[in-house]
Amino acid sequence: MFFHRINDRHSLRQLSVRDAEELFSVLDASRAHLRHWLPWLDRTRSVADSRQFLTEVVQQAEVNHNIHAAILLDGRIVGVASYHRIDWQNRNTAIGYWIAAPQEGQGLVTASCQVLVDHAFAALNLHRLAIACATGNARSRAIPPRLGFVHEGRQRDAEWLYDHFVDHEIYVQLQPQWEARMITRLADTIPRPK
Ligand SMILES: CC(C)(COP(=O)(O)OP(=O)(O)OC[C@H]1O[C@@H](n2cnc3c(N)ncnc32)[C@H](O)[C@@H]1OP(=O)(O)O)[C@@H](O)C(=O)NCCC(=O)NCCS
Repeated sequence: MFFHRINDRHSLRQLSVRDAEELFSVLDASRAHLRHWLPWLDRTRSVADSRQFLTEVVQQAEVNHNIHAAILLDGRIVGVASYHRIDWQNRNTAIGYWIAAPQEGQGLVTASCQVLVDHAFAALNLHRLAIACATGNARSRAIPPRLGFVHEGRQRDAEWLYDHFVDHEIYVQLQPQWEARMITRLADTIPRPK
């Protein structure tokens, strides 16, 4: 099962059906905050809805090696970072994420996505990763550039959000760009003489 410790307080763990109650209570408490930009809140009204979602998540993990990771802070679920369906034929996928309102602004999502980016290119040998953000979603759009993604373009009316369409900004990172960036990231960890 996918598990990655980021630091003493923050880790990522593959979600399971056992997480249904905790996941529902976290997203229910942040419902208004998440509903601004995520289209599935009105379809998630009970623990049973979260259990159904997690049943599908577990199946995807078994069949497609997909990862839907709980973002854990001190062992409690505070958000989710995941791959959408992995296209093995073309070695690509997209990353999605959300975080509970009280934990916004601490860098938890950027750090969590960095783990999924590294895993996708290093362990899964994918070639192309995308992140699609609604044009007006400034907090979400700040994340891919921090991870080295490049803005590729805009998809018009790409997503129906309850009562209107939003455009998507598409950010992409390719495996060779990640490899080059990895060398810089590693070099940055080597102590320099004073
Ligand atoms: C989009 C969303 C996940 C962004 O969350 P976030 O907390 O802003 O993102 P991060 O965890 O990367 O945190 C970034 C913030 O932490 C700060 N930060 C602190 N330490 C940091 C670190 N080590 N690395 C990066 N950022 C750090 C950054 O400066 C930034 O703060 P700022 O926004 O005040 O400038 C969140 O707003 C959300 O869940 N929105 C609703 C759902 C949604 O829109 N999902 C995305 C759909 S595409």
